[in-house]
Amino acid sequence: MRVTIFGTGYVGLVHAAVLAETGNEVVCVDTNEHKINRLTNGDIPIYEPGLQPLVQAHSLSRKLIFTTDAAYGVEHAELIFIAVGTPSGEDGSADLSHVMAVGRSIATHMTSDKIVVVKSTVPVGTCDGVYATMREILVQRGLDELDVHMASNPEFLKEGSAILDSMKPDRIIIGTDNREAENKLRELYAPFNRNHEKIITMDMRSSELTKYAANCLLATKITFMNEVAGIADRLGADIESVRRGIGSDPRIGYHFIYAGMGYGGSCFPKDIRALIHTSIEHSYHAGILEAVESRNSAQKRVLFEKIKKHFGDRLHGRIFAVWGLAFKPNTDDMREAPASEIMTMLWQAGAKIQAFDPVAMPECKRLHAEHLASRDLLLSDSKEDALDGSDALIICTEWKAFLSPDFDLIKGTLKEKIIFDGRNIYDPVVVKRYGIEYVGIGRRSA
Ligand code: UDX
Repeated sequence: MRVTIFGTGYVGLVHAAVLAETGNEVVCVDTNEHKINRLTNGDIPIYEPGLQPLVQAHSLSRKLIFTTDAAYGVEHAELIFIAVGTPSGEDGSADLSHVMAVGRSIATHMTSDKIVVVKSTVPVGTCDGVYATMREILVQRGLDELDVHMASNPEFLKEGSAILDSMKPDRIIIGTDNREAENKLRELYAPFNRNHEKIITMDMRSSELTKYAANCLLATKITFMNEVAGIADRLGADIESVRRGIGSDPRIGYHFIYAGMGYGGSCFPKDIRALIHTSIEHSYHAGILEAVESRNSAQKRVLFEKIKKHFGDRLHGRIFAVWGLAFKPNTDDMREAPASEIMTMLWQAGAKIQAFDPVAMPECKRLHAEHLASRDLLLSDSKEDALDGSDALIICTEWKAFLSPDFDLIKGTLKEKIIFDGRNIYDPVVVKRYGIEYVGIGRRSA
């Protein structure tokens, strides 16, 4: 099938690579010329396991073409996906300018009927808005007889396992009342829908809301556990024991009940804020969502408060080793990463950071250039180097490489023998056995 995807961010690029892999002829359109040039040369701007070889192989075979030429993209396609970003505006609302601009561009260039599918995470009613705008342009162009077949098809991939998630989706949501669009999408997704039925069809608005509901529920689960961890901290209970105890109930399940430093990334924070904003617009009080948002912001301070409790106000001039900068493992993404927040609080208190992350160091360099320049931040060559001369160790991301460290070395290197574990990756009993003090999130001290 001939497919065009507008937007070469996480969602667009992964989707394009996976569709090329299943034999489609995919054109990716982006307004960012520099990015398109990099992609054309096989240089992938994001770190995502498995993405680079797919993009390189299919670029070579011309199954995947990158261009800034929207007219060419529209002309090429039987099926057009809109997969551009919807960042948070100042007031928390989703910024739809990119989505609407793509809709306008398609309507401006189309000379035959088109199927247009919105993959970006968009507030309920956006697909209707894109459709109405496109129709207006077609009328202005005197091409009223052309059809736009609209659908919503949200994406549920997780960074770090995006290719796998796309190859083996849990579900494929097709939101449309339009037969043409539904049939074409069913055909496109047939290779991913082989063993059992994964396609769930519904109307466009329900599909748009499904995406928000999924992310907001997951964020709520995490936040609930963070709150219980705070209770456990005060009562001498252990959140890890509680997690195992409740996760065994299939109605609760083991996923997304890990207490930590608060959720980050490009989706949860933005989507919670957008749904709160939509609710306010409709004079509806989304109290749970508001509580999740404010609890999560508070959660990002919890580990810092524990550090302050240990060191008192004597943070000035101290050096902290930080292991992990990405908002989660297997990505270099630092958007709303708890590591950035805790480093900022430590810098404000006059401390210095020696950080290590297996892949996010270039991103950290970009984000915190001024702290590198002032030498408040040093990016270390290894996790061991980061310990050198540090007062304490802070764990911010649960990378596999951090799971079984040399505790003797940690004890021998740190000035104060203490680990602040923002991801609860160590067993307090084991750490204590090595003569190191352990502070986790809701962990019972050994
Ligand atoms: C999320 C959704 O999972 C995905 O379906 C959607 O399409 C995009 O948003 P992503 O942001 O890539 O994916 O990461 P995810 O693995 O969901 O983690 C989000 C955040 O929650 C991370 O900061 C992670 O550290 C945190 N988290 C996750 C917890 O703190 N505890 C948990 O138990 C699980």
